[in-house]
Amino acid sequence: GKGEFDHYMLKEIYNQPSSLSNTIEGRANDGEVTFENLTEGTFSDVDAVQFVACGTSYHAAMYGGQLLRSAGVRTEVLRASEYESTTGPVDENTLVVAVTQSGETADTLEAVREATSRGARSLAVTNVVGSTAARTADDAVYIRAGPEVGVAATKTYSSQAVTLALLTQQIASDVPGGEPAADKAKLLESLRDLPEHVEEVLESSQAEAIARERLDSQSYFFIGHGLGHSVALEGALKFKEITYEHAEGFASGQLKHGPLALVTDETPIFAVYSGRGDEKTKTNAIEARSRGAPIVAVGPDDHSLADAADTHLSVPDTHPVWAGLLANVQLQLVSYHAAKLLERPIDKPRNLAKSVTVE
Ligand code: F6R
Repeated sequence: GKGEFDHYMLKEIYNQPSSLSNTIEGRANDGEVTFENLTEGTFSDVDAVQFVACGTSYHAAMYGGQLLRSAGVRTEVLRASEYESTTGPVDENTLVVAVTQSGETADTLEAVREATSRGARSLAVTNVVGSTAARTADDAVYIRAGPEVGVAATKTYSSQAVTLALLTQQIASDVPGGEPAADKAKLLESLRDLPEHVEEVLESSQAEAIARERLDSQSYFFIGHGLGHSVALEGALKFKEITYEHAEGFASGQLKHGPLALVTDETPIFAVYSGRGDEKTKTNAIEARSRGAPIVAVGPDDHSLADAADTHLSVPDTHPVWAGLLANVQLQLVSYHAAKLLERPIDKPRNLAKSVTVE
């Protein structure tokens, strides 16, 4: 049941310190990544990786895909429903990674079928043991987040992103020419602190006050650069799903190429940053602010964006790879509290189902 929580969504947001610990357990020891069922060298024939996914899982795939690309591996991140029209060449050296919480999303299963019919090897990254994706892919890696009841995916996004970040390290060490992170030991060390850092966010978040302050806005924008871009897209998706308010996510630098026309004092902008390479987010946020938009900075304290913004949702200092996941927890709380204040049916938003088994 929901226990002390008003909604499953809030329970699942608060479950993240423990679900993330489960995800990480035994997989990041002594500076090395190990997956129980993937032997070292298992990806040594792979020369390109394609992620396919939908919705929130697509945003987690963007996160993992960017990490894999910067580890020197040829990587595409494709919307499963657009697979046929967006895929490049595929052969037996292609690994298609299906990222799907339920393991039952028809669009994602179909993309995997299409890729394997072209000769690709397949890997399912899923939460559900025995799901169709797990049974049909050549290999399966479980995110181990535990059952998720709320229609809006929360804890499973965090566990997907972490699983994919770990998988990146294994793929990059197997694939010829791949380059595991130069600071891998540090990366894994700070991953072990992630559950505790999420706990700190949950204990200190000002998300409810900010949701209340901005409740009568016309539209909600979310911007971010690099890993922060995928977090911005996820923040906007969650917000529109459960509040029914208009929300959009953008790559920070794209704001001035059109969306800026919509910016007024009625369009709060949540600016996600990690502390590395966030100049674009800062300059574009400041530009929007000069047009009247209230800016909510979402990231670590020690950054000039936090000072330039109207308000700040703070996250603990961590490795830049994990900072976006902490920012995402803040944004989950903003969406939750806004939806609650608007009296929306948070666990079962209209027109949506937990798993979408039609194409
Ligand atoms: C958003 C949400 C959906 C799912 C999408 C894919 O909160 O839940 O966008 O992420 O339908 O579902 P899975 O991951 O089960 O393939």
